[in-house]
Amino acid sequence: MPMNIAIDGPVGAGKSSIADLVAQRLGILHLDTGAMYRAFGLYALRMGADMNDEQAMAALIEQADIQAVCENGEQRTLLFGEDVSALIRTGEVSAAASAVSRWPAVRRSMVRAQQAMAAKADMLIDGRDIGTRVLADSPCKIYLTASAEERARRRYLQQMEKGDTTPYEQVLFELNARDLQDMTRETEPLRQAEDAVLLDTTGMTIEQSVEAIVKIVEEVYGKQS
Ligand code: DC
Repeated sequence: MPMNIAIDGPVGAGKSSIADLVAQRLGILHLDTGAMYRAFGLYALRMGADMNDEQAMAALIEQADIQAVCENGEQRTLLFGEDVSALIRTGEVSAAASAVSRWPAVRRSMVRAQQAMAAKADMLIDGRDIGTRVLADSPCKIYLTASAEERARRRYLQQMEKGDTTPYEQVLFELNARDLQDMTRETEPLRQAEDAVLLDTTGMTIEQSVEAIVKIVEEVYGKQS
């Protein structure tokens, strides 16, 4: 059985950056499932599809060719072979990803692809339904969170570094709106799995968060060299 670690949590909890570092430390792959939903959101935007139309979304996911590949230790997300890794990081695509991810047919397709990848290799997977669905049988689940204000502050600073001047209040508003949508959708809403360890990183540095997660993993799988 491969070593499969599940990390879930709300927007801006630091899942992706922390998971990347933890996976590096453990020498295993990191799959960012949010990037796959984002790629589908981008596809829906490009096709001008109605994201509120369940039938249209079910038909569109059947045609979509989305792949997550690892190149030089980094995930590249491909949409029909085009590397869209940078294009999927906009606010517009974030909102689209959250909107399309509420449809059962979309989730089924994504979950199937993610479980197939996890069956083949040691992997740390982050998302919203990893502990509750994709890796429901994993013995190692972490629910990563921080206060909404801290998550918004981190995101605001990250965006500022990239030259994005969206005000803090708007970042906080959008983060709360996306969390609400992700936590209240009918199909596999974001929630902490009963057997997940809760890690609140408010006031913690990235390094401290990485250490805390490595410790949790080692408690389950033993010390990793
Ligand atoms: O982790 P992220 O912000 O890149 O995810 C983008 C959106 O995709 C998020 O708002 C909800 C959705 N998502 C999901 O429904 N299930 C996952 N496993 C990962 C992401």
